[in-house]
Amino acid sequence: MWDLESKKAVITGGTKGIGRACVMEFLKLGAEVMFTARNEEDINNFTKELRKQGYKATGLVADAEKQEDREKLAQWVANNWKKLDILVNNAGINIRKRARDYSEEEYRKVLEINLVAPFEISRVLYPYLQESGKASMINIASSAAIQDVGTGTPYAMSKSGLLQQTRSLAAEWARDGIRVNAVSPWFIKTPLTQGYLEDGKRMEAILSRTPLNRVGEPEEISAIVSFLAMDRSSFVTGQNIVADGGMSIKAL
Ligand SMILES: NC(=O)c1ccc[n+]([C@@H]2O[C@H](COP(=O)([O-])OP(=O)(O)OC[C@H]3O[C@@H](n4cnc5c(N)ncnc54)[C@H](OP(=O)(O)O)[C@@H]3O)[C@@H](O)[C@H]2O)c1
Repeated sequence: MWDLESKKAVITGGTKGIGRACVMEFLKLGAEVMFTARNEEDINNFTKELRKQGYKATGLVADAEKQEDREKLAQWVANNWKKLDILVNNAGINIRKRARDYSEEEYRKVLEINLVAPFEISRVLYPYLQESGKASMINIASSAAIQDVGTGTPYAMSKSGLLQQTRSLAAEWARDGIRVNAVSPWFIKTPLTQGYLEDGKRMEAILSRTPLNRVGEPEEISAIVSFLAMDRSSFVTGQNIVADGGMSIKAL
């Protein structure tokens, strides 16, 4: 049971960082995977790379910000699988600014992709998750959902909203055989954080707050996502697993 054999999984934002690590780990564990991203070239390159390694996954160009693209996802699942066992709402962005410097368009974009999109994607895929009878949804939140970690207020708002979305949907959809959990990472080495982590002073500040004295790797998140996706975690729902090297238990 420590695998994802015969499971059908959708992962949003699958070409880079945490999403890409999830695609790789799910394939190794035996799942069939469909992943999304906006950049078609990245999708084609990753798909080719996977094929060379002997894996087959489908990449779909779909922008989580657009409702027609969210529906395209559901249409793909309807045409190809007719049911869905695993949904990873991973696609996310950040725009870091002081609260008063955001334009309305900027902060609404952060909320639309990080908070509204997981809700809408979960809703359009609900009939297929229900059809599974034993489905698992995993939302990628953040340490910023719980503490101020200097990410900017809209990102923090979006991720804390995503945690409550996780708990509320877990309660509502339990009767449909759908579990819903979240994973909240602290700093992980991905293209999203690369520029930020290159600043020596910032890195020093991060390490001084992190008992394990390092930032995380994408595979340290995909491992948790995989466990939550498996039937091995069948009694876990509505939870948030924090992966932060101990940051949240350290005050001084
Ligand atoms: N890295 C960290 O330290 C960290 C910490 C806490 C939480 N997180 C969360 O973890 C998730 C993944 O972060 P990451 O660091 O792996 O990010 P990343 O390196 O920037 O990768 C993001 C992935 O999502 C895709 N994506 C972005 N916007 C999208 C959209 N509108 N529609 C569809 N796909 C989209 C990107 O491809 P395209 O650009 O081609 O669309 C890419 O494949 C995010 O939700 C992030 O908030 C990350």
